[in-house]
Amino acid sequence: KDAVAPAACPHAPTRTHGLDTIPGPTNWPLVGSLIELLRKGGLTRQHEALVDYHKKFGKIFRMKLGSFESVHIGAPCLLEALYRKEGSYPQRLEIKPWKAYRDLRNEAYGLLILEGKDWQRVRSAFQQKLMKPTEVMKLDKKVNQVMVDFVDRIGRINKSGRIEDLYFELNKWSFETICLVLYDKRFGLLQEKVNEEAMHFITAVKTMMSTFGMMIVTPVELHKSFNTKTWQDHTAAWDSIFSIAKVYIDKKLKKNAVRAPDDLIGDILHQSSLSKKELYAAITELQVGGVETTANSMLWLIFNLSRNPDAQRKLLQEIREIVPSGQNPSGEHLKSMPYLKACLKESMRLSPSVPFTSRTLDKDTVLGDYAIPKGTVLMINSHALGSSEEYFDDSKQFKPERWLRENSNINPFAHVPFGIGKRMCIGRRLAELQLQLAMCWLVRDYEIQRTASCLHQAIKLHLKVFWM
Ligand code: HEM
Repeated sequence: KDAVAPAACPHAPTRTHGLDTIPGPTNWPLVGSLIELLRKGGLTRQHEALVDYHKKFGKIFRMKLGSFESVHIGAPCLLEALYRKEGSYPQRLEIKPWKAYRDLRNEAYGLLILEGKDWQRVRSAFQQKLMKPTEVMKLDKKVNQVMVDFVDRIGRINKSGRIEDLYFELNKWSFETICLVLYDKRFGLLQEKVNEEAMHFITAVKTMMSTFGMMIVTPVELHKSFNTKTWQDHTAAWDSIFSIAKVYIDKKLKKNAVRAPDDLIGDILHQSSLSKKELYAAITELQVGGVETTANSMLWLIFNLSRNPDAQRKLLQEIREIVPSGQNPSGEHLKSMPYLKACLKESMRLSPSVPFTSRTLDKDTVLGDYAIPKGTVLMINSHALGSSEEYFDDSKQFKPERWLRENSNINPFAHVPFGIGKRMCIGRRLAELQLQLAMCWLVRDYEIQRTASCLHQAIKLHLKVFWM
């Protein structure tokens, strides 16, 4: 199809058009746009192809990959319209392999895969504590405890200013932090000698994530019926994750004594009316959702600061002004650090670790000029939004200052790295706390410089996290 002018975006369209009239890339019988997408670099470069398609077709386009059809939206006004029309239980695309495992072992679903009223019940048990900045700020000491070890580890493995596998180190850092928050347990992943249980745990999460990708592109039912190696590895990995997580959740449940003020999860476990099975699933999914996303965002922050020494200098200045020397940065300090927050926002705009999320419409919905039927899968392309010149001047440049301008006209729906609405990331506040504190520690102790291999690694990793 030829390029069309971007669709207009009125809130109350005068005339709506059907799904079939939404423009989109080549739609061959059986394969749809799969071959075109593969030619554009395949699934790992999918986020870039989506940016191209938005440039070509406008704010909304329709794409078929094999039998999977979706409508892509990349305009703040459409996101706002979707947000305003959101029902009580917004739904994302199913993660079938995870559901298949839970059904096999009779385990419950967690927030990432739950739907309807059950999702809302579990979400509300966690929402109040996890989404409230004043509650999450209380976790700063736990986050710092792991940071002390991380900075020490970086010092030990630093070979004349180079860290060989920074991404692996960051994954261990985020894994250790989330485990401390969820289970009150230090696994010692940043120690010289990592114990067997910790290694087993992190390997299981890695295996589970790498095998489920395969079962997203080929039907899980097939893997299950033929008992493929992928399915066997996937189930074995979940078995390990659940068995370790259950031990520590049980320990926390047994502790009935007065809890520490920063024991958010302890409070949730004791105060909610969720069953033990539901708690196991919910906590395990919080853990899985919080490791690679945070590590990847941290890697990009480091990458972006390495390429923008001026921003790094300004950030260091702010850190020195606010955090007295010899003191650990705290949640309280972060309140007076606008430049730090702007750096994080800018990095997540330019290089989001989750480039899109999805919604399955639970009712017929009008978006812009189009009437979209119930059941349609919408892809919300946050990467395309963040890289659009229409919504961000000099969109390719890292400019934290854009978030600090007094008369900034950035549309809040143009920046959605944690998703939108009722189903937005529940770990957002915790991730922000971790990333902001980590930046304070690193920028205060180190000058981050660019190297060619870092660029290569960072680009390769851009789409590591694209499961939603
Ligand atoms: C959902 C991004 C960290 C747990 C999501 C979604 C995104 C996202 C885009 C989908 C939201 C939507 O569909 O509207 C990120 C990023 C992170 C991060 C970029 C780090 C920088 C975390 C952490 C946790 C976590 C630390 C755990 C504490 C979850 C869960 C959901 C979710 C459980 C599903 C929520 C629901 O459906 O109710 N995240 N996330 N995430 N995230 Fe995060």
